[in-house]
Parts: sequence; structure tokens; C-alpha cells
Amino acid sequence: MGRMADKVALVTGGAGGLGGATARRMAEAGAKVVIADLADEQGRALAQEIGAGYEPLDVTSEGSWARVVEAVDRRHGRIDVLVNGAGIEGDFVNGSPETTTLELWRKVLAVNLDGTFLGCKHVLPVMKRAGKGAIVNISSMASYLGTPVNVAYGASKAGVQQLTKSIAVAGSRGGMKIRCNSVHPGVIRTRMLDEIYRQIGQVANVSAAEAEQMSLRQVPFGEVGEPDDVAWLILYLACDESKYVTGSEFMVDGGWHLVDAR
Ligand SMILES: NC(=O)c1ccc[n+]([C@@H]2O[C@H](COP(=O)([O-])OP(=O)(O)OC[C@H]3O[C@@H](n4cnc5c(N)ncnc54)[C@H](O)[C@@H]3O)[C@@H](O)[C@H]2O)c1
Repeated sequence: MGRMADKVALVTGGAGGLGGATARRMAEAGAKVVIADLADEQGRALAQEIGAGYEPLDVTSEGSWARVVEAVDRRHGRIDVLVNGAGIEGDFVNGSPETTTLELWRKVLAVNLDGTFLGCKHVLPVMKRAGKGAIVNISSMASYLGTPVNVAYGASKAGVQQLTKSIAVAGSRGGMKIRCNSVHPGVIRTRMLDEIYRQIGQVANVSAAEAEQMSLRQVPFGEVGEPDDVAWLILYLACDESKYVTGSEFMVDGGWHLVDAR
């Protein structure tokens, strides 16, 4: 029996780097995985490869969430695990406090924070029926740091960090054991990270590879992490091995948080 035998797991951003790795590890561990994403083609392809289900989802839309949660609940009769992994990087070129347009600010907050809130909101009633469940929210190391070149992203991830604690307390009321934890990756090799290095390189007038080397000076391990480095942690937080863990924050960052970044 796998670590997630028979658990029903809904993974948003499951067509992407971290969500995709998480979906794979969960499927291998015996979970019935449903990938949900905007990127239908990649999402369906991965779902087929790993024997998962797929649901089109725009995390910013409450109606979209209601439809997906209802569909998964109808098919499987419950949802044991929600991974809020969908996210966008914002803008490292025009993202300072003075250059961030209200439109950009709202876009980043809508996906990263509203999307996570709506997922928690719609899955909680389903988990309440069982009296237990596990929600894992992907925040970022950016939630701990000033992010002066991308203010919307940092604010959205700090919001996810705090929301996680409120959900954890709400999920423990009346004897319930609905756990909620946040994961804070540093720099992990995905499409998003490649795009971030491209943008930082553009601003600094260096190549993306040089931007990467500059950023790795802040990371004691001196290298970028792999999606599985995050996926294994999420797997732990999703399965019963972590049954006494809730409202906690977990960094996966090669030691970045140990370094004075001033
Ligand atoms: N890669 C890193 O270094 C890193 C570091 C810290 C935090 N994160 C966070 O991890 C999460 C996953 O990022 P990733 O690196 O895998 O990036 P990614 O771009 O590979 O994956 C993000 C996924 O989210 C989906 N998505 C975007 N908007 C959506 C929407 N409105 N509705 C549904 N799906 C949507 C995309 O289609 C994509 O599949 C994000 O929240 C990101 O902020 C990543």
C-alpha cells in the first residue's frame, strides 16, 4: 500500500512544474489524483500519463471552483487533499512600488491569493463531511522577504502564508482534523523560474544564465532545486504521516533563508 493509498487529491497548477511533480509523486503513492489547471493540453497529457483525472480550472473564478469541486466530489465521493499550486510570477521588470499598475497588482493577487482562498473555501465543506483532510498551499520564500522589484508577488505570497493559519484554526474547530500548511520554495527549476531569471537578466542587462548565477550567491547550496524537492515535502504534508502538523510553514530553499540578503 502506498503512502497515499486511496486518497483523493486535487492538485491545482498540476500542469506546471511543482504541481506536476506533486501529481506524479501522489499518483505513484496510490492517490486518486485530479489535476486542475488553465493549461488544458499539458494538464490532460500529464493526467493521461500518470493515470490521473483532469479538470479545467481558472482559480480566479468562484464559479469554476464550484464546478470542479462538485465534479470531483461527485466522481470520488470525497476530497482528502487539496494542493493549491497554481500561481503566476508577476513582473520583475515593471513590478516596483511605483511602476506596478493596479491592473498588474490585481492580476497577481487574483491568481495567487484569491485562487488559494477560493480553493480552501470550496473544499472545506467537502472535507468537513469526513471531519478531516489536508490542504497544502504553495507560498514562496518571497513571503519572508522584501520584494521591491515585484511587490505584488511578495504581498500575494505573504497573504497565502497568513491565510494558511486561519484555515488551519478553522479546520480544527469542533474536533475536526482538517490540516492546512504552507510550503515556501526558494529557487526551483520550472518554467516560472526560467522566466524570472529572463526578466531579472533583462533589467540587469545580463543573460538569464548570469542572472541565475547572481541569485545563487544567496543560496548556501549554490544550486537551483528540482520540482521533486518540493513534491516530496508536499506528499508528506498530504499524507497521514503528518497527522499532527497544521498551520506550519516549511521552507525548501537550499538554505537561502540562512543568508543575510541585504
Ligand atoms: N519555481 C520556483 O522557484 C518557485 C518558488 C517559489 C514559489 N513558487 C510557486 O510555486 C507555484 C507553482 O509554480 P511553478 O514554478 O510550478 O510554475 P509553473 O508556471 O510551472 O506552474 C504554474 C501553473 O499554474 C497554472 N495557472 C496559472 N494561472 C492559473 C489560473 N488562473 N488557474 C489555474 N491554473 C493557473 C499554470 O497554467 C501552470 O500550470 C506558484 O504558486 C509559484 O509562485 C515557485
